[in-house]
Amino acid sequence: MSIRKKVLAANWKLNLAKEGIGEFSRGIRQRQDGDIELVVAPPFPYLRDLVVESSGEGRPFTVAAQNCSDEESGAFTGEVAPGMIAGVGARYVIVGHSERRTLFGETDEMIGRKLDRARAAGLVPIFCIGESEELRDQGKTLETLRRQIDAALSTAGGDFGWLIVAYEPVWAIGTGKNATPEEVRGAHQAIEGFVAPHLAGGAFSVLYGGSVKPSNAAELASIDEVDGFLVGGASLAVDTCLGIYDPMRG
Ligand code: PGA
Repeated sequence: MSIRKKVLAANWKLNLAKEGIGEFSRGIRQRQDGDIELVVAPPFPYLRDLVVESSGEGRPFTVAAQNCSDEESGAFTGEVAPGMIAGVGARYVIVGHSERRTLFGETDEMIGRKLDRARAAGLVPIFCIGESEELRDQGKTLETLRRQIDAALSTAGGDFGWLIVAYEPVWAIGTGKNATPEEVRGAHQAIEGFVAPHLAGGAFSVLYGGSVKPSNAAELASIDEVDGFLVGGASLAVDTCLGIYDPMRG
């Protein structure tokens, strides 16, 4: 079943300097009360700093890694295992972001193995899916989402305590372009239908991502099927991050 647990996840990508972590963390801990889990996904070297900051004075937040290995240990230079991420106190991991798929060659099967490893390490995956502009133009949006979900979740097996799915149309990421509310609603409804049979009754939330910013957050947040957002560019500053968080409070 889809649960309506709200999540706002800030994906810093390869951005922000260590010096800014304290100020950013203080700023978001001063947010208004709200039944929304705020998750920050910094580059790997900052994970521990963010975990320490996450429970400072004010409202706590949680921490995610932006990627993980599909291996647990061994001769895999440059890789970071889910167990290591959990070991420094992060609770989530983004898996299968479109930049990982397109720039780093991640396949649906690899993403499925990462989901499996992440779950085994006790992390909640933020599993990203989304169609390219080309596939969208060919009218293959839902077919693509179904293929990505079926391939990854059948590799991973379905027994997640809680899974977060992030729908991010590739053509909307970092471009300023947005799907219309009708497109978002339709895609999220379809995703719920595609994901549920894999999870044997397990709970999941479906986030939207792709050029979410303060000026469009209220409209997108008002869609029942949208449980929150995965945000890149607008998550890098406290005011824009909270400019998305505040309308989510309803
Ligand atoms: P964007 O990125 O908000 O900058 O479009 C979203 C993402 O890639 O997760």
